[in-house]
Amino acid sequence: MTGTSTGTSELEALQSELLAEIATAQDLAQLEAVRVKVTGKKGPIAQQMSKLATLPAEERKAFGAANNAVKAVVTQSLEARRADLEEAALEARLAHERADVTLPVRPGPEALGRIHPVSQVFDECVEIFADLGFDVAEGPDIETDEMNFGKLNIPAEHPARQEHDTFYFPPKPDGSRLLLRTHTSPVQIRTMQNRRPPIRIIAPGRVYRCDSDQTHTPMFHQIEGLVIDETTHMGHLKWVLEEFCKAFFEVSDVKMRFRASHFPFTEPSMEVDIGAEAIGKPGQWLEILGCGMVHPNVLINCGLDPEKYQGFAFGMGLDRLTMLKYGVPDLRAFFSADLRWLRHYGFSVLDTPTLGGGLSG
Ligand code: PHE
Repeated sequence: MTGTSTGTSELEALQSELLAEIATAQDLAQLEAVRVKVTGKKGPIAQQMSKLATLPAEERKAFGAANNAVKAVVTQSLEARRADLEEAALEARLAHERADVTLPVRPGPEALGRIHPVSQVFDECVEIFADLGFDVAEGPDIETDEMNFGKLNIPAEHPARQEHDTFYFPPKPDGSRLLLRTHTSPVQIRTMQNRRPPIRIIAPGRVYRCDSDQTHTPMFHQIEGLVIDETTHMGHLKWVLEEFCKAFFEVSDVKMRFRASHFPFTEPSMEVDIGAEAIGKPGQWLEILGCGMVHPNVLINCGLDPEKYQGFAFGMGLDRLTMLKYGVPDLRAFFSADLRWLRHYGFSVLDTPTLGGGLSG
């Protein structure tokens, strides 16, 4: 037997031994241990290679090639085994972690959080008016005098300006003053200036008045409504408000009372009361909104021809509606950020108000 043939059979034995060892690795950690042992600097393959120097020159080439071949086979086997084990590990994990999408949602942090009643009512109103074909418009909380008053037919020195208890910013060098909007009605103006009729929008948002007692807070919420086209009349206004109240209070019939009133930006103007039996107070009336047909001067101020276009507007107090619907006695608690209050009056984050699924859950 030549040295080479001895070396070769030794190599063959080594190869089958290493392949067997690789095959017995049961997981990736074991395989890694085998790999380090087998391919390491002092491992069996390296040891074989080190014999090269002791061989006669004519045998070295063949021995080196044979040794490299073993190394290649072993490396390939390691890789194949790794792929197999990785796949098996993934399959085991998938079998173990399988998600059952039919299970109810697990209570997590989102079940602890609460939606503020005003936000809830905000969403309920948007849902109801969206169903009636209205979309949502927005305007800034910081307004110009012109938008909050002038364009709404409330000129300077008009007594209505005093009634609004306005928060003004310091005057600019040109004498004009910015203010915190005292109502959502400036969104009427912004909407009419920016799009052509037919218009059907609501504009929910914050408003500010320098006023504070048990039933007034310096910041509160309103929802403005505006409908402009060529044929809209008071009957439509009345119908929309009735539909809204029935849907909002989730009753089939609501008693409503339209009282003559005055707003500079509507003519005629009305205030609306609802029969409080809807909220368990029979015989009492509660004022919930102001409304009317948009004043021709307001249409003109927005570049609309009052001979062609007409429509109605309304403004509702959102906090007031919330108190009525959910029996909240004190308005100030809305803004006191008291967690105990919020846990009591708040709504689940996961219940989105829908007309089909129930507004208040
Ligand atoms: N902006 C009025 C208010 O704040 C309400 C209102 C809006 C009245 C639209 C008529 C039309 O009191």
